[in-house]
Amino acid sequence: MKTHALEIMKDLFFIERGYLNGNHFVYRGTKPVLIDTGYVRDFDRTAQVIADLGIDLSRIQLIISTHTHCDHIGGNKCIQERSNCDIALHQVGKHFIDTRDDWSTWWRYYSQDADFFKCTVALEDGDMVAVGPYEFQVIHTPGHAADGIVLYHRDSGVLISSDTLWEEDMAVMTLRVEGSRALFFQLESLDRLADLEITTAYPGHGRPFTDVKEAISKARRRVKGFLEHREKIGDDLLKKIMIYTLLMHGSVDEARFFDQLMGTFWFRETVDMYFLGEYEAKYDEVMKGLFNRGLVRRRGSRIYSTVKP
Ligand SMILES: [Fe+2]
Repeated sequence: MKTHALEIMKDLFFIERGYLNGNHFVYRGTKPVLIDTGYVRDFDRTAQVIADLGIDLSRIQLIISTHTHCDHIGGNKCIQERSNCDIALHQVGKHFIDTRDDWSTWWRYYSQDADFFKCTVALEDGDMVAVGPYEFQVIHTPGHAADGIVLYHRDSGVLISSDTLWEEDMAVMTLRVEGSRALFFQLESLDRLADLEITTAYPGHGRPFTDVKEAISKARRRVKGFLEHREKIGDDLLKKIMIYTLLMHGSVDEARFFDQLMGTFWFRETVDMYFLGEYEAKYDEVMKGLFNRGLVRRRGSRIYSTVKP
């Protein structure tokens, strides 16, 4: 199966993946550049979509990671081993990687697989970064992730919006790791995007979109809903991370899933923080909702998610 690559500017391709793997950007030139590299388990697929564009992985010069979450950095170590490429992150993310802080990257909190790599370039808000002949402005957009950045190409109005802005849904807010101000940071980050002239936004998950103002208003309403009704943060988090956990494992034995979740930091703590430790009741309620919406299905004794990985 070939993954469709959309040429958004000459030789700069957008490749839509799913929710276990963040979308990629590939610049095809004498010095190829990648932006985001998916989840580690699906590295073969990531390598294939890059190879399909005629790019030899050993020739990659630079990887820019929009943040250190596992679905955006999964190919970094492997590609760096083959190519000795530079890897650029916001300076906060570089600090997480340099100090082997797998808590701030969320990997340990959510029991995710990921490998450390060598971050060689620290980016700051306002920096310009070259993707082949295209100069992108780095905008630091904390909220979802302390080290989150978006990349803005002023001449064309193209925004690589990563997990700061999606078309419909909003990326998960993990206050336990990001801190109690994370929702306020997210609002400030959305305000910064609202000041830009954007023709098309290319998100970290999902398809590209042009009605950016509408997406920003939806995201703002969502954050404000979280601020007014705290338990909505917990519900959103449980739903998203349960699906994500199923995607990480492919499928799991239904009889063991609750115990598996109880063995993680995030499940216990989320239920503690938002729902007074009602673990089983909350598990049943959230799973019921996911089955009803067709986002989780049974196959014999196993369950799996229908969300695109
Ligand atoms: Fe993501």
